[in-house]
Amino acid sequence: MDAVIRCWPALPQARIAPEIYGHFSEHVGRCIYEGIWVGNSRGIPNQNGIRLDVLAALKHLRVPGIRWPGGCFADDYHWKDGIGPPKSRSQTVNLWWRQVEPNTFGTDEFLHFCEALGTTPYICANVGTGSPREARDWVEYCNFSGDSSLAELRAGNGHKRPYSVKHWGVGNENWGCGGNFTGREYAKEYIRFATYMRAMSPDIELYACGASFGDYRNPIQNDWNREFCNELRRHDMVDHITLHRYFSRGSARGFSESEYYALFADVLALERDLELTDAVLREYFPDRFVGIAVDEWGAWHPEAVTENGLEQPGTLRDALLAATVLHVFNRWAHRVSMANLAQTVNVLQCLMVTERSRMFLTPTYHIFDMMRPHGGAQLLMLQTEGPTYEAHAVGIKNKKPVPLLDVTASMSGKKIHLTVVNKSLTESIEAHIDIREETVAAVSGKLLHAEDPRTVNSFKTPSRIAARRIRPTFNEEEPSHTFPPNSFTALTFTLK
Ligand code: AHR
Repeated sequence: MDAVIRCWPALPQARIAPEIYGHFSEHVGRCIYEGIWVGNSRGIPNQNGIRLDVLAALKHLRVPGIRWPGGCFADDYHWKDGIGPPKSRSQTVNLWWRQVEPNTFGTDEFLHFCEALGTTPYICANVGTGSPREARDWVEYCNFSGDSSLAELRAGNGHKRPYSVKHWGVGNENWGCGGNFTGREYAKEYIRFATYMRAMSPDIELYACGASFGDYRNPIQNDWNREFCNELRRHDMVDHITLHRYFSRGSARGFSESEYYALFADVLALERDLELTDAVLREYFPDRFVGIAVDEWGAWHPEAVTENGLEQPGTLRDALLAATVLHVFNRWAHRVSMANLAQTVNVLQCLMVTERSRMFLTPTYHIFDMMRPHGGAQLLMLQTEGPTYEAHAVGIKNKKPVPLLDVTASMSGKKIHLTVVNKSLTESIEAHIDIREETVAAVSGKLLHAEDPRTVNSFKTPSRIAARRIRPTFNEEEPSHTFPPNSFTALTFTLK
């Protein structure tokens, strides 16, 4: 099978926000406790309670940001439960995930974790069961530089300097677990919260809960953004609006060929989510940029249920899905300001799995590693011609053609980063690569591939799926590369 990939280095598009390569860690199952935080448990090497293996693996990715503490957990979380001497912290009920919350990992632990990682924190405040006062106090505790009692409390808890947390979510899924509001009701709440949070710390960026269109027939979701934006259009109070999208076809490892292809077709539904959200933002904020933050996304297979702490195996299929979704965010660089994969360790489409002192990386981890150069680079105009298949995306009526080769290209300095998913289960695809009006001096590459898309890593075989270097042969007269079936390839071209 043949394809053509053309890109135009002379026509750079928007800058790809590094923040779209971000992550999400909620108090659910073993994500925070055991996955990130081991406290003073002996036998698991840690730095002030943060496990070292996870820290090192995340450092290697240069994770741009982490969202915390939820998720549904956020709208029933009261931050004062999680500060001060660990022994005095109360045991509360984690309502949504049916666990007892020890509160030993709270604001200071999260922000120390971010500092150790060199990443940007993104905190989601509680609207559902909280108050504007509680949220504005949280901002004060984190960011106030004067001599207030809350700033002194922070100093007493070991951090004299303000943490200067810039990114604040105003609730999570407030059309559902975050309080079951209508768009109009939420807008009123949002304005109250935002007024006081922003007055406390004028430089913060606020993230409003947006619609998530799992089902396009759901009237609450369809009206939500319109109702919210209509109320907010007179206020300069919203910097980003959020969107969530989870993917599922068959089970994690038990899926048919048609379910394999359907999962990738569902990425069209994410594109549709973005189009719908974008249209409302253009209509209500024609003169102002409001970003779309896809602050929860990933595969959510039927294996992951509350009873097992939302755990599921992570396959090569999931990794290819992640690459395809990240490609969408790259293409939407002009609007997508942040994205966060759910959820960093042990939960849903995680990057790594832990068990006591052991840890292995999932195939999805390698996608983030291989795609890292796109973050902060300039998206390039690109055209791909090649084989397609027809499929129904979830919630979309008509079948649509889905390209088997999914590609994005970006540029930083003299380097072009081209990443390619070949979704075909059986066919290699040879693509002619045309880098318009430029001469290539060198090419290097990495490949993530296995025969079977169900392949996983495990404690026994932790590197069964790992990126390996390839040496692309690149003939200047007729440059081409063959992409194996069921694979992800990252090529770097250095221009003369
Ligand atoms: O990531 C798991 C849950 O999915 C989050 O708590 C919630 O926001 C979403 O519905």
